[in-house]
Amino acid sequence: MHNSSQNSRKYTAPARLLHWLMAIIWIVVWIIGYVAVTWSQELNPQDGLTAAHKALASTLLFLIVLRIFWRLTHRPPGLPDSMSPLMQRAAHWGHFFLYLFALIAMPLSGWLWSSVAGKPINVLWLFPLPPLVDANPDYYPLMKNIHITLAYSTGALVLGHILIALKHAIIDKDGVLQSMLSDRRTSSDRKK
Ligand code: HEM
Ligand code: HEM
Repeated sequence: MHNSSQNSRKYTAPARLLHWLMAIIWIVVWIIGYVAVTWSQELNPQDGLTAAHKALASTLLFLIVLRIFWRLTHRPPGLPDSMSPLMQRAAHWGHFFLYLFALIAMPLSGWLWSSVAGKPINVLWLFPLPPLVDANPDYYPLMKNIHITLAYSTGALVLGHILIALKHAIIDKDGVLQSMLSDRRTSSDRKK
């Protein structure tokens, strides 16, 4: 539909920009969150890392809106024919779970946790995010648990995503990683 007859297998430039920008923010935010909690005495005495974690993570809430809009109005390139229908379906579900859990539920659960804790979130240290719900200490343990459980399960999901992307690039050499990288034509553009 949106593809030319040449069927170049790549994401649009805005899709690539949003993928890599959000990927970098996501990974940095995960590491800061982990360090802030694990070495809270040594490295996070004044909660500076917690503030950084929230300042950066909250940008994902804005970027995901743009990303979903772009995704719904621009078809992604198809997967290579060398992938079985089962694997193609698995890839689609994997990406759906990345959107739902890593990019939507993760920042939302942090926002909820901070809200029930009555603690502020400063988006990029620039402006405050209003609380989603009223502060309520009764819900603190639940929201904390949800955020931490999601952090570790989506951490595994993202790690799997990265390893699979590398397998496509190094072992399969099927142009899947290229589709997220550059405008260059890939081997999969050639008819077999
Ligand atoms: C608005 C967005 C978010 C808010 C308000 C938020 C809030 C928090 C807070 C308050 C902590 C505890 C840090 C501390 O005690 O110093 C935390 C921990 C953590 N967050 Fe977030 N977070 C958000 C988004 C995210 C995202 C998007 C990720 C994943 C990339 C993430 C991953 C983590 C991790 C891994 C921890 C450490 C959990 C542990 O090991 O106990 N957070 N978050
Ligand atoms: C080194 C890190 C990463 C690499 C090498 C990578 C690679 C890729 C590649 C090659 C694709 C295209 C797959 C296809 O053609 O169907 C893709 C899609 C995607 N990636 Fe990543 N990625 C990375 C990090 C991340 C992170 C951290 C997230 C989110 C937390 C993420 C979320 C997604 C999503 C949601 C898609 C589906 C895009 C769509 O079709 O709408 N990626 N990634």
